[in-house]
Amino acid sequence: MTDKYETGVLLRQYLDFHFQGESTQYLPHHPLPPGVLGYPRRCADWTARHALRHGRALDLGCAVGGSSFVLARNFSEVIGVDYSASFIAAARTLADTGVFRTSEKEWGVFSDVRKTVPDFRVGDACALPEELGVFDAVLMANLLCRLPDPGGCLEGLRKHVRSGSVLVLMTPCSWDAAYTPKAKQLVPTLPALRALLEPWCDLLEVRDFPFVLREHERKAEFTVALGSAWRVK
Ligand SMILES: C[S@@+](CC[C@H](N)C(=O)[O-])C[C@H]1O[C@@H](n2cnc3c(N)ncnc32)[C@H](O)[C@@H]1O
Repeated sequence: MTDKYETGVLLRQYLDFHFQGESTQYLPHHPLPPGVLGYPRRCADWTARHALRHGRALDLGCAVGGSSFVLARNFSEVIGVDYSASFIAAARTLADTGVFRTSEKEWGVFSDVRKTVPDFRVGDACALPEELGVFDAVLMANLLCRLPDPGGCLEGLRKHVRSGSVLVLMTPCSWDAAYTPKAKQLVPTLPALRALLEPWCDLLEVRDFPFVLREHERKAEFTVALGSAWRVK
């Protein structure tokens, strides 16, 4: 957990990533390899594809809500939870009005058919309140290696899923002691996830998800996230 996600710079970066990241104008000065844009949408679509039921979905570490809005095309109720109050405030404005404006720029939610409007809440993925209830799908995109105890967080999710629910974990595997003490890091990531999850989940699919996160229109970080989808036994 960090105040890093409360800065205006990060807010703009994530608004661009979630709401303009499908556009070839996202990084306009050089052609990009195919399949690197639209990461929040791809995460949400993959989650929906693996879900057996399309009732309640939880987007943990939702940031400004890009994946939550896409999940809302497929699920009848979507809750996005993030630790950052400024990210959640922006996501709520987008849910209420369809746009978020600063003095320099505005971002809009994709104009598509949605089953529902996501409900955004400030919260700690490692201490979710019981009353959040049980979900048919949980997406955690690029959150695990930002947590002090990712294994504890996954264990805590057990009371928020039921048999047949899908759990989708996306991670760049960039473990860093600034966020996660060495003893709690899940390294190597997939074997560590298997050891933690296989007692209560079946592994459905493992896939690489490349993406670019732009700092500004001439500079971006290229990452290949490890995606794993799990079915609760
Ligand atoms: C690397 S960003 C990923 C955001 C988004 N899921 C995506 O893929 O673009 C990590 C997010 O997790 C949030 N976060 C960090 N620690 C958290 C915690 N303990 N509980 C909930 N959210 C947390 C941050 O505020 C940030 O929005």
